[in-house]
Amino acid sequence: MDPRLCPTSYSFEEIKRTVNFVLSRTEIRPMIGIICGSGLGSLADSITEQEIIRYDEIPYFPVSTVPGHAGQFVFGKIGITFVVAMQGRFHHYEGYTLLKCTMPVRIMHLIGVRYLFATNAAGGVNPEFNLGDIMFIRDHINFMGLPGNNPLNGPNLPQLGPRFLSMTNAYDKGMRDLARKVGIEMGIEEIMREGVYACLGGPTYESIAELIMLHTMGVDAVGMSTAHEIIIARHCGMTVFALSLITNKCALDYEDREPANHEEVIKIAKSRETTCCEFIARLVNEVQLIETKIAEEAAAEEAKKEAEAEKIKQEEEAEKKKEEQKNEKNKKRTFKKK
Ligand code: HPA
Repeated sequence: MDPRLCPTSYSFEEIKRTVNFVLSRTEIRPMIGIICGSGLGSLADSITEQEIIRYDEIPYFPVSTVPGHAGQFVFGKIGITFVVAMQGRFHHYEGYTLLKCTMPVRIMHLIGVRYLFATNAAGGVNPEFNLGDIMFIRDHINFMGLPGNNPLNGPNLPQLGPRFLSMTNAYDKGMRDLARKVGIEMGIEEIMREGVYACLGGPTYESIAELIMLHTMGVDAVGMSTAHEIIIARHCGMTVFALSLITNKCALDYEDREPANHEEVIKIAKSRETTCCEFIARLVNEVQLIETKIAEEAAAEEAKKEAEAEKIKQEEEAEKKKEEQKNEKNKKRTFKKK
């Protein structure tokens, strides 16, 4: 195997070289990064003023090999917000190390992305879930990471983040609340869910015994991506929102005769593309409103500070002048007395 597919680590200089290539190819500096899950590639279609960089052009970059995943970055705008979407992501089962799978997230961070919206297709383990439901991920169980396969294994790059990372509130509560508000405004409450996502290695779908175990553990949806991307995003301080589109109902008993299959997953994902597109676009706009408000408040605060500093300066100058005049008068008086 090409050793570049599976490095055990890479240096900050190597990442910088990849980043510099991306920066040299576009002047767009996105605030939000979007990862399009299986069958959700058209999330990138609502991006205007598109500039495309194919993965196979980018130095050191992996190339996606899964049907239903294109392989490119789509830069551009949603509304007035600069975004970049990954049309195609990388999975461990393709042969890439988790470090390599998550390289695009680090690249997004280093070109200025501060929010990550990750999407995926997932099996519904929670029996109350229906096909086509959209689950906001509250938390994950990272089955690849638990026995020690973590994308942060190897030397830590302190320029990017800490050695030991807390995963508490990794899926930002504020973003989930915002997502719920957006869903209510769109009138899609009945298909909106929230829950725990389990990331398994794949590429096999889970056995029934495994699904029963996941259900017992409190898992709501299962898939083969996302958790490692979120770890890397949190490592470099991004604010994260993630959703699972429920594309199949997982069998929890041996009488179930409908095994999961990739074609069905893609078909259900495609049937929800329009809804997901609108949802993501609205969420982007909500984040933009918040960011604009924060920027305006910061500018107002700065202006207030400057005005206060100016007032103090003027008062000090007036005080100094008064003092000088007083001294002048005293001098004259002393002179007269003489
Ligand atoms: N299991 C794992 N990954 C998946 C599934 C599933 O049932 N559906 C879509 N991706």
